[in-house]
Amino acid sequence: MTDGYLWFEGLPFPRVGWSCEGLKEACTKFVIKDEDTVMVSYPKSGSHWVIEILCLIHSKGDTKWIQSVPIWECAPWLETDVGYKMLNEREGPRLLASHLPFHLFPKSLFTSKAKVIYLMRSPKDVLVSGYYHRTVTKLTKNPESLEQYFQWFLEGNASVLAVCNLHPCAYPAVSYGSWFEHVRGWMSMRDRENVLLLSYEELQKDPRSTIERICQFLGKKLDPEELDSVLKNSSFQVMNQNKMSNFEILSETFTTKNFKITRKGICGDWKNHFTVAQAEAFDKFYQEKMAGFPKGLFPWE
Ligand code: A3P
Repeated sequence: MTDGYLWFEGLPFPRVGWSCEGLKEACTKFVIKDEDTVMVSYPKSGSHWVIEILCLIHSKGDTKWIQSVPIWECAPWLETDVGYKMLNEREGPRLLASHLPFHLFPKSLFTSKAKVIYLMRSPKDVLVSGYYHRTVTKLTKNPESLEQYFQWFLEGNASVLAVCNLHPCAYPAVSYGSWFEHVRGWMSMRDRENVLLLSYEELQKDPRSTIERICQFLGKKLDPEELDSVLKNSSFQVMNQNKMSNFEILSETFTTKNFKITRKGICGDWKNHFTVAQAEAFDKFYQEKMAGFPKGLFPWE
């Protein structure tokens, strides 16, 4: 078990599986190809749900791939040491995933025609999901309570360090930095033809139509039975049973026993956790940080 974070370009990253050399290579040298599909999200936004959907769309509903290959190999994480290596060795159209903030993402993306899906989720639910994730993983310093994690989440990264003159490791933060900066950064890509904005909330509300929208964006035509299979096999219940996608088989180097990525899988779990005062403080902070975006852009507002 390790404490603290790996610091790269002023942002905190998990210590196990990430390295400064690897991050530097991924951020500056990786070449995104036109035929790639890229899933980008802030951690705990439902990334693996969308990856499972993308895999199933790719295989036209056939479950062989998702039942035989770990999800982190189906769509390797660009900025992890293992993921970067896998992607570089892969031929043909690749499915890749990343939590990198916009300003660190490899610049080759901006001149490529790769299809990019940016996934978002209500930050209050991201916070709660992230808190539980950190109580069962060994990737970073773990919070003592939800209240403490609440503070870390709002702070996001160690931007106050310069002022406080503290060493980064002395100041707890959240992996990949601020949710607010992440979403703000990627929003600048939202009008591009090759970018699809997706939310956890719309997937929950109407999974079938949302999957159809993804297919349309990717230029994939599925017949009704194939679509049924994508829908069924990416459902919370089925993913929760699939060892290749629920993280049960992940080494105990990373997690404690019984870790599963499929925790609760609902919208609005924050209501079971935030006090009234926390909800009010969060809303105030949110409004300051997210001012200026058009109404209706974020389904949780
Ligand atoms: P909760 O912790 O709120 O349950 P990520 O993949 O980005 O780490 O996100 C994990 C979150 O997505 C978890 O949220 C998890 O339960 C949820 N999730 C995973 N698979 C899901 C599915 N098939 N349907 C709904 N939610 C899912």
